[in-house]
Amino acid sequence: MPLGQSLTPEHLQSADPAGVVLVVDQDDNRPLDPRTAADRAMRTLEAIRLLDELPQACRLWVARPGEHVDPTVDALRGVLRTAAYECPKVAASLVEFSDSTQPAALARTLLHDGPPIECAWQGTGFSVLRLVPGAPETTVTSPPEALVRPDGSYLISGGLGGLGLLTAAWLVGKGAGRILLLGRSLPSAEARAKVEELRKAGADVEVIQGDIGVAGIAEKAVRKAMSARLPLRGVFHCAGQLHDATIARIERPILDTTWRGKAEGAWALHRATTGHELDHWVLFSSVASLLGSPGQAVHAAANAWLDGLAAWRRAQGLPATSVQWGAWSQVGAGQGMAERGVAMISPTEGVDALERILGAGYPLVAYSPIDLAQWTAPYPGAARSALFARQLGDRQGKDSGSSLPRALRESASDAERQVLLEDHITDCVREILGGTSLRITPRTSLVTLGLDSLNAVRLRVMLENSLGMSIDGGILWTKPTAAGLTDWIMHRMGYREEQPA
Ligand SMILES: NC(=O)c1ccc[n+]([C@@H]2O[C@H](COP(=O)([O-])OP(=O)(O)OC[C@H]3O[C@@H](n4cnc5c(N)ncnc54)[C@H](OP(=O)(O)O)[C@@H]3O)[C@@H](O)[C@H]2O)c1
Repeated sequence: MPLGQSLTPEHLQSADPAGVVLVVDQDDNRPLDPRTAADRAMRTLEAIRLLDELPQACRLWVARPGEHVDPTVDALRGVLRTAAYECPKVAASLVEFSDSTQPAALARTLLHDGPPIECAWQGTGFSVLRLVPGAPETTVTSPPEALVRPDGSYLISGGLGGLGLLTAAWLVGKGAGRILLLGRSLPSAEARAKVEELRKAGADVEVIQGDIGVAGIAEKAVRKAMSARLPLRGVFHCAGQLHDATIARIERPILDTTWRGKAEGAWALHRATTGHELDHWVLFSSVASLLGSPGQAVHAAANAWLDGLAAWRRAQGLPATSVQWGAWSQVGAGQGMAERGVAMISPTEGVDALERILGAGYPLVAYSPIDLAQWTAPYPGAARSALFARQLGDRQGKDSGSSLPRALRESASDAERQVLLEDHITDCVREILGGTSLRITPRTSLVTLGLDSLNAVRLRVMLENSLGMSIDGGILWTKPTAAGLTDWIMHRMGYREEQPA
């Protein structure tokens, strides 16, 4: 069905399908309208949610005709890549095809039964997208003559945040003529002190308030940036507001808030800077767009839209660089990732990387020291995705190899099975909570232990993997104890009647 329409439970009731194909049809081809992209991302999220709730496996495909650069499709990649972690059963995948693609070949692709895949038919050629780490091989345009100019002005949206201020300090260090920092709120005491420090170093730094996604603000910021009559030479789009939510919980307002700062802000900056001779037009994207990120489907999608916009600008001969950053330590919104064991970018290393990326003129770069095997370890569905096959090996069919189903089959009684399952669930919860030493009994509420929606996704994925069966997402909330879940699982496995909640 066309992605312009919503998939509803009624569609599924009447057809009982093994798969659903959402087609980005011609009417959807308004790539540069970030609102269209937001609508399509929301519909795709809703479709994934619906399919994930079905008792049987039902695969989702997004099918996309045409080969032109389309940020809407890039945004959908961010959604699909995150679904691989949270809703592996749906195996959300993307296929691109052209007028010359044979319908039979396309049909064969849609019958593919493996892990999530992003693939393309170009004529008779078929390719699968794979992540290959290493230095980028090519630059698309020659880098600017001067990296930073004393007779140029620079605009930083989100300029009072962690990375915005670091970028400002870097520009000042390189001798930028004037810098305009834009944010919605008044600067914090810390940001004020940093701005003062830059001014004391002789820099011309001005701060203005405004929402970059609101009509007229980007134009105002450009005017203010150039008020010392220095031409605008660089734009750094650092505005963004992180709002974590699992796919099961994403509502439209969450998506809209993220979209406003990121995608609509970038689009407003594109329009407001048209006609200016810029050296740099830089988008602070996230590695979430490339790898997907559990609990951050909207963030991944909005950043992926930025990546697509950078590609589109390059195709128009305009400067653009999108950097898919990993998490930074010490400053900014990503510091908490250190607690999740993620390797971090230090401010010195990150600023140095920014300079090298801009100096080389790369259009799109992911910069992240992340250990992919560690990152995907709790999410076998994502680890199996075709995107990661080069790095993690082909894990298709390589499930946990858990011996639990067998042990349950061979147990002498339901009482024995109950103990096995309760212990297993408790071990999983303990691992998710970072090896907590808290006492967990079969009747301890997992919610009071700190089971949030992201941890619930992890628990569900762990149980599905070790038991080789599908677990209803909602059951973790209606039976949030090891005993309650054990009861439900044993019933589903046909061992005994389910007890009322
Ligand atoms: N830090 C990281 O580890 C990391 C990693 C990957 C990607 N990134 C991306 O890099 C960018 C900067 O990150 P950060 O760590 O510096 O985040 P941050 O410290 O939270 O700064 C973001 C700034 O953007 C401003 N902002 C948000 N929405 C805005 C809007 N609609 N209009 C104008 N300003 C807005 C915020 O201020 P107000 O709320 O006052 O407007 C805030 O000062 C973000 O886009 C982020 O997604 C960061």
